[in-house]
Amino acid sequence: MIIAMDGPAGAGKSTVAKRVARELGLTFLDTGAMYRAVTLVVLNRGIHPSDEERCTAVAREIELTFDDSGEIRIDGEAGEPDIRSDTVTLNVSAVSAHAGVRSAIVDEQRAIAERRGGLVAEGRDTTSVVFPGADHKFFLDASAKERARRRELQRPSERPLAEIQADIERRDKLDTTRAHSPLVQVPDAILIDVGSLNADQVVARILAHVRGER
Ligand code: DC
Repeated sequence: MIIAMDGPAGAGKSTVAKRVARELGLTFLDTGAMYRAVTLVVLNRGIHPSDEERCTAVAREIELTFDDSGEIRIDGEAGEPDIRSDTVTLNVSAVSAHAGVRSAIVDEQRAIAERRGGLVAEGRDTTSVVFPGADHKFFLDASAKERARRRELQRPSERPLAEIQADIERRDKLDTTRAHSPLVQVPDAILIDVGSLNADQVVARILAHVRGER
C-alpha cells in the first residue's frame, strides 16, 4: 500500500507520517530529508546551489539510504542533525528546484517503494508526481502563523517568531511557484486542516480514512 502526504513546511507531516507508518507496519519515507541531504553535500563541496549541473551530479552520485528508525544516511554516514541546520534550510528550496535533482531523487523514491512493497511518503510532490497512483492521498495545511508557532514549540530557538514565520512564507512561495513539481493540492487528496488538531487527532483521521471508516 502507498500512502502519500503533501503540504507546506511546518504542517507536521513528518510526525504524522511516521506514526501512520508505524501503526500500519509500513516504511516511512521522508522525501524532504533526501533534498536536504543533497543540499548538505552541495554546500560541503562548495558548489553553488544555483549550479544545476553540479547539483544534479551530486544527487545522482551520493547513496541515500534509510536506517531502521527511518533516519537518512548519506554514503553510509548519519545525515542527522546536519541536514536540519539553518544553512541547509535556507538553501534547500534552490537545490530542490532543479529538474535534474528532482528526477534523480524521484527515481530513487520509486525504487525504495518498489523494494519495500509500499510505504508512507511525505513531502511536496508525493501525491502529484512521485506516486500519482497512491492508494491514499492527504494534504496537510495550516496558516503560516500557526506553522511557525508549531516549529518553535518543536525546536525552540533563539530566533523571534516573526522571523521563523517569514522563513516559512519564503519557502512556501518558492515551493508553490517553482517550475518543476510545485507544491499543489491534487483534486483526489483529502485536505486536513491541522491548525485546530493535535498530532494524535490528525493520525486518527488519516487511519480512519485508510481503514475505510470515513
Ligand atoms: O519537508 P522539509 O522542510 O524537510 O523539506 C525541505 C525542502 O525540500 C522543502 O522546502 C522543499 C523540498 N522538498 C521538495 O521539493 N519535494 C519534496 N517532496 C520534499 C521536500
